[in-house]
Amino acid sequence: MATERIETLPITYNYKVVRQFAIMTVVWGIVGMGIGVWIAAQLAWPALNFDLPWTSFGRLRPLHTNAVIFAFGGSALFATSYYVVQRTCQARLLSDRLAAFTFWGWQAVIVAAAITLPMGITSSKEYAELEWPIDVLLAIVWIVYAVVFFGTIIRRQVEHIYVANWFFGAFIVTVAILHIVNSAALPVSMTKSYSAYAGAVDAMVQWWYGHNAVGFFLTAGFLGMMYYFVPKQAERPVYSYRLSIVHFWALISIYIWAGPHHLHYTALPDWAQSLGMVMSLILLAPSWGGMINGIMTLSGAWDKLKDDPILRFLVVSLSFYGMSTFEGPMMAIKTVNSLSHYTDWTIGHVHSGALGWVAMISIGSLYHLIPKLFGKEQMYSVALINLHFWMSTIGTVLYIASMWVNGIMQGLMWRAYNEDGTLTYTFVESLVASHPGYVVRMIGGLIFFSGMLVMAYNVWMTTRRDVLIAIPKSETVVATV
Ligand code: HEM
Ligand code: HEM
Repeated sequence: MATERIETLPITYNYKVVRQFAIMTVVWGIVGMGIGVWIAAQLAWPALNFDLPWTSFGRLRPLHTNAVIFAFGGSALFATSYYVVQRTCQARLLSDRLAAFTFWGWQAVIVAAAITLPMGITSSKEYAELEWPIDVLLAIVWIVYAVVFFGTIIRRQVEHIYVANWFFGAFIVTVAILHIVNSAALPVSMTKSYSAYAGAVDAMVQWWYGHNAVGFFLTAGFLGMMYYFVPKQAERPVYSYRLSIVHFWALISIYIWAGPHHLHYTALPDWAQSLGMVMSLILLAPSWGGMINGIMTLSGAWDKLKDDPILRFLVVSLSFYGMSTFEGPMMAIKTVNSLSHYTDWTIGHVHSGALGWVAMISIGSLYHLIPKLFGKEQMYSVALINLHFWMSTIGTVLYIASMWVNGIMQGLMWRAYNEDGTLTYTFVESLVASHPGYVVRMIGGLIFFSGMLVMAYNVWMTTRRDVLIAIPKSETVVATV
């Protein structure tokens, strides 16, 4: 009966929650990247630790990673998934109240993280540092998110479930499982708990989580974004819908096995390390399949890149995605990892994915989305989007190039030894040699961060503009097989 009633009513979408998450994406982007610039400066000039425990690198680093991944990236994923699922299913979100709960619950988790991490309250698991009461809240918010998302899919008014929703769906389900399993712990007080796992098993569970946080949080969700916003902005259907389905199943079934590449040459059984390496190499294929599918969506519309900076954001992000998913499998080869591990090469790889792919696809999608959410024809200034595009690209290139140089240099200096078997360089010598790279990385980060301020101004001016357009009530995304 309920479906009959929905079908007979004109569709109105819940844009309020999308607007809230979209604005918070910009806000948390500025906060998280601002802290990133600060810790980058600390590595060049340690006096910026100010000799205080709560402003020390060790405490601000997890604050940075949590702020950029979960606050900035998470808000972007909530905003876009709620928008895409409504439009492609031609249905309003399952429940406005539950959607509002996910918004306020997610912000509460972020604020709790911003208070506890500088205080040194941490479970010490990377990307899962939050202590158990916050973990419980996070799990509840996430389950409600799943209910809203899948509930909306169930009440859809079109038969087909568009591929973007498959990627968002896989991201939501897998992150719930990863978070709940990896965070299992024995609490001893409100601010301290001990992991339910011990020794090598603890390490394996942690990196099964850690790698799939990359695979599902930082990749699958953003691929969902890619499959909606690239065709929309290019005004072309997805290059190959068939490839997108192969891409989906191949990606999710291979990613889940690759975690052990984070634990090469450790106490983890050798066979598990080799399995992680081989699965990482195979992962190149679906990753590049997806990238090619995204980029080729522009076939016949390449000229649009000339004067559409939003499309440029989206396409360049795909190029960085291709680059980091080529680099990752290479770093997963054990002999390469023996050079790259512990060095700035890893940090360069992380940020070619994080800045080049995650941040740039989010920024491009938001520029497409924001005028529509606020009923405006377009963004306040296309010239400022163009400026932002160049700041992001130059910032990312400076960041990753300096880290590659530093990383390979560090790896080579650490393994150089003299004929008598003593080390050629002391650790401090490698640190001194790394200093110029740290300064360049800080400058690159500062440029990227300043681009976010340009975006904030452009968004602010867009929301204030008088020109209003009617928000279209429904639309169909055309898929070609
Ligand atoms: C202005 C932009 C940014 C700057 C300046 C910056 C800077 C930094 C610095 C200095 C570190 C610590 C490196 C070290 O320990 O040696 C770091 C780590 C990290 N950042 Fe960023 N960051 C930025 C943006 C981002 C974004 C947007 C993301 C994710 C979407 C991100 C994700 C990470 C991750 C995951 C790590 C930990 C890497 C690891 O442990 O291997 N960062 N960042
Ligand atoms: C085919 C895809 C990829 C593979 C096989 C891969 C592989 C790897 C390898 C081998 C490492 C180094 C592990 C170590 O030495 O400790 C690494 C680190 C990392 N990668 Fe990737 N990578 C891929 C794509 C990506 C993408 C697209 C992103 C970001 C959006 C990303 C984010 C990270 C992060 C955050 C780390 C640092 C983890 C840590 O130690 O804290 N990776 N990856």
